[in-house]
Formats: sequence, structure tokens, C-alpha cells
Amino acid sequence: MPICPEPAVIFCHCAAVSDRAVATAVEAGARTVAQVCRATGAGRDCGSCVFSVKKLICEHVATEVPSMEVGVAAG
Ligand code: FES
Repeated sequence: MPICPEPAVIFCHCAAVSDRAVATAVEAGARTVAQVCRATGAGRDCGSCVFSVKKLICEHVATEVPSMEVGVAAG
């Protein structure tokens, strides 16, 4: 019996971006909030998902993203 992967979680409702999209962007080399937002489309409308983007990046790369990046991505 095949193992079912965990379902993707949509965290950016404005652009329908999932946690998997962030993982893919990080795997492709994105390391900052701005880079991930550019790659996925997250954080470009209301901006309420930007902290979720930051958290997901930290989970995937295990390094801290400077807080200053949040303002750049949301603007
Ligand atoms: S929820 Fe991501 S930009 Fe609005």
C-alpha cells in the first residue's frame, strides 16, 4: 500500500501558495523572505502571510532570516 504524503497547507490565501511551494523555492536556492515571495507569489497582496513565509524558510534552511527582510517583501 502506498504511503500518502501529507497534504499541502495553503498559508497565503491571496495567492494560494502552499508550504510545499516554499519548500520547492528553498530547494531551488531561495534563502530570504523576499526571494521566496518572488519565487512563489506569496506576500505580495495583503502581506499577512509574510511571517509564515519566514517561519517556513527557517524550518527548511534552519537559519535565521533577518527581520528587515519582512518589510522588503511586504512592500
Ligand atoms: S495572505 Fe499572502 S499576501 Fe495576503
